[in-house]
Amino acid sequence: MRLAVFASGGGSNLQAILDCGDFNVVLVVSNTPRAGALERARRAGVDTAVLDPAGFCGEAAYVAALMAALDDRNVDAIALAGYLRKIPPAVVAAYRGSMVNIHPALLPAFGGKGLYGRRVHEAVIRAGVRKSGATVHFVDEEYDTGPILLQDSVAVYPDDTPDSLARRVLALEHALYPRALRLLQDLRHSATDQPSP
Ligand code: GRF
Repeated sequence: MRLAVFASGGGSNLQAILDCGDFNVVLVVSNTPRAGALERARRAGVDTAVLDPAGFCGEAAYVAALMAALDDRNVDAIALAGYLRKIPPAVVAAYRGSMVNIHPALLPAFGGKGLYGRRVHEAVIRAGVRKSGATVHFVDEEYDTGPILLQDSVAVYPDDTPDSLARRVLALEHALYPRALRLLQDLRHSATDQPSP
């Protein structure tokens, strides 16, 4: 599986994916040159592409540039890891069933537009629930609504702050994302191993 990872931030999930050594990461895409994920990619010798949708004249031009970057490396699966831009419908369609995202809560709760980063953990604590976690799901045209591939939970303690909860969830993500990608890899293999009718 030739994997592209999309990231806008520090890239600790990208690092976990690289460090586990099970995946052929051929490209890291970011919307901003300031993403720490790009530095992690360079250190690992992985190609990078910075494509800011706001820098293109219309969505079609952005989609063409994104698809060209993916096609040039024969990317066949995409992992979104803290990527803060919506994926255009044409790219979602091209990678349906082969593009996943990680979300720092137990979807379908605490997901959707505007619920990302620290805001997720603030909402979890405000709701007073005793369990949170992380979810890897397939990407569809909406925010955080695609079919769930894998999820795991952590406790929420009465004295948790958004930051302490975020740290516990992030540590869980670093174990969960490689597990989910192994599952995706296996699913893709078994789909291509089917005898033709
Ligand atoms: C993670 O919490 C992920 O669930 C969310 O964004 C964060 C990215 O962190 N979508 P990092 O850049 O991988 O450190």
